[in-house]
Amino acid sequence: MVNENQIEEVLDSLFAEMRFTAEPAGLYDPLRYMIGLGGKRVRPRLCLTVYSLYRDSFPEEILSPAAALEVFHSFTLIHDDIMDKAEMRRGEETVCRKWGDNTAILSGDVMSIESYRMIARSPVAVLPRVLDLFTTTAAQVCEGQQYDMDFEQMAEVPMADYMKMIGLKTAVLIACSAKMGALIAGADERACDYFYRFGYDLGLAFQITDDYLDVFGDPDVFGKAIGGDIINNKKSWLLTRALEKSGEMEKSGVIDAAYGKTALLEAMAMKAGTEAEKAAKIAKVKGIYEEIGVDEDAKYEIIKLHAKAMDYAGMIGLGKIRYEVIHRYADRLLGRTR
Ligand code: IPE
Ligand code: IPE
Ligand code: MG
Ligand code: MG
Ligand code: MG
Repeated sequence: MVNENQIEEVLDSLFAEMRFTAEPAGLYDPLRYMIGLGGKRVRPRLCLTVYSLYRDSFPEEILSPAAALEVFHSFTLIHDDIMDKAEMRRGEETVCRKWGDNTAILSGDVMSIESYRMIARSPVAVLPRVLDLFTTTAAQVCEGQQYDMDFEQMAEVPMADYMKMIGLKTAVLIACSAKMGALIAGADERACDYFYRFGYDLGLAFQITDDYLDVFGDPDVFGKAIGGDIINNKKSWLLTRALEKSGEMEKSGVIDAAYGKTALLEAMAMKAGTEAEKAAKIAKVKGIYEEIGVDEDAKYEIIKLHAKAMDYAGMIGLGKIRYEVIHRYADRLLGRTR
């Protein structure tokens, strides 16, 4: 087994040494920029962590696919920032703001292509299964992103639809990362499936945390502008739950109408053109969230999903030491502030 500190060292050198084609600079500079900024590297870390439970070293056959997960993820972020009109990412300007949308589209495209080159270096014996998993996942991420945009135009979405949407846009890639580590390590079918389920529920918890931090995070630590989801009327977990709950609470008379559903819908309809308008809208919606307690509900939901993920991990039959490695990985993800 490779220990967890070594995994961190491998992750650092993997991305520090990653080389992309030099020219045209307009196409490849944004790649270098995004990979250089370095996010949390949740997905390659998960892939390597699962692989490490079965093997004692990291040959190219796992390093390349693990890196592919991060390159693919970074591509989705570049396109996501165009779609979400975001200006900050990983504590710096987004690619679309720095270079414009057209460059962001094309650099994102070439990153997606590069990720396939890296995936193709998986061991030949499992390559068809790895490719199938990765391709299915990539298409699902697009489906989730489309639902996410569709939902912006809807007044309200059922919680089940929200969960399905984040399952696609976020959870499947985390599930894929865990399963890919197991698959390439040669784990049996059953273990691969449980790693997938583990990753999926952890991924749901991860996106709900992201939605929470979008409102309640520290902007200096989070690395993204706070309140972006509110400005875009994103059907985040908080808003979805608030729309459900404010109506119920108002009907039963436990809250003042100022925090009820009508007030929430009015807040969502507030203009957010200028900086002052944006700040006022964020403050209004955030005030309602706090008053009706959806911030606490989100924390509870995250803990429940985390526990469910750990239940799946417990079914793999890893033994105590290896189970604890997975436990520490999941705890670190749960406690994140960025
Ligand atoms: C952001 O992903 C998009 C979501 C799925 C919530 P990360 O939070 O993993 O972003 P980086 O890679 O660390 O920047
Ligand atoms: C992003 O969801 C999911 C993907 C990029 C596929 P968000 O839009 O919430 O991610 P952030 O908050 O911009 O990182
Ligand atoms: Mg988005
Ligand atoms: Mg976004
Ligand atoms: Mg977000």
